[in-house]
Amino acid sequence: MRTPLVAANWKMNGSREFAEGFFTALDLEDSGAEVVICPPFPYLSLVADRVANRAIALGAQNLSHEAAGAYTGEVSAAMLRDVETRYVIVGHSERRSLYGESSELVASKFVAAQESGLVPILCVGETLQEREEGWALDAIAAQLQAVLDRVVADDLKRAVVAYEPVWAIGTGRTATPEQAQEVHGFIRERLGSAGDAVRILYGGSVKSGNATALFSQADIDGALVGGASLDAEEFGKICRAAAQ
Ligand code: PGA
Repeated sequence: MRTPLVAANWKMNGSREFAEGFFTALDLEDSGAEVVICPPFPYLSLVADRVANRAIALGAQNLSHEAAGAYTGEVSAAMLRDVETRYVIVGHSERRSLYGESSELVASKFVAAQESGLVPILCVGETLQEREEGWALDAIAAQLQAVLDRVVADDLKRAVVAYEPVWAIGTGRTATPEQAQEVHGFIRERLGSAGDAVRILYGGSVKSGNATALFSQADIDGALVGGASLDAEEFGKICRAAAQ
């Protein structure tokens, strides 16, 4: 059995005041799902303090593939570990499209994260054009392959994958449970012998209203939640839906 996992990706949103209020309002009622909060870098320590005695893990939204040195503006895996971070998102579509991160760079970040003991949440997903032209699974396979080329099955077992169709991120347009399941099943197959152990999250306009139908699919093990994770009440509902 894979324990469901729900991760909040706050993206470049929030403030000290927001984070304080969020944890005051967040009621997980022992949801049974593993919950991860990924705030912007400046709030990692604050969130680490707030989650210390709760069943919530800390995640980051990005990291450098380099270990240390003259890389102005970058943050290393070791630094993230140093402030109690357990998970890190790699290859989010916004990093790929807005900051030009290639699948090879994403794979280097994946490796750097694991070398420091972080659990990477590897994001993959097709654009609308790729879906409409029938290339969705090929695009996802290529993104996955860059990582598969660098790691062995035991490494994969210590990772999380998130399927996030680019056309569903922040658009209010969600993949249907069947569309998502098709891709999740495909990803699990591509992961080979590690497949059964890896949690595969769905991301893209997840809300409490569509979460239950998505989570009822055999290969959907949780969610990576953007917009709806900024509302503690709504996020709590999604976490509870994952645990049912
Ligand atoms: P969304 O974002 O839930 O706002 O669509 C998901 C994500 O980008 O991780």
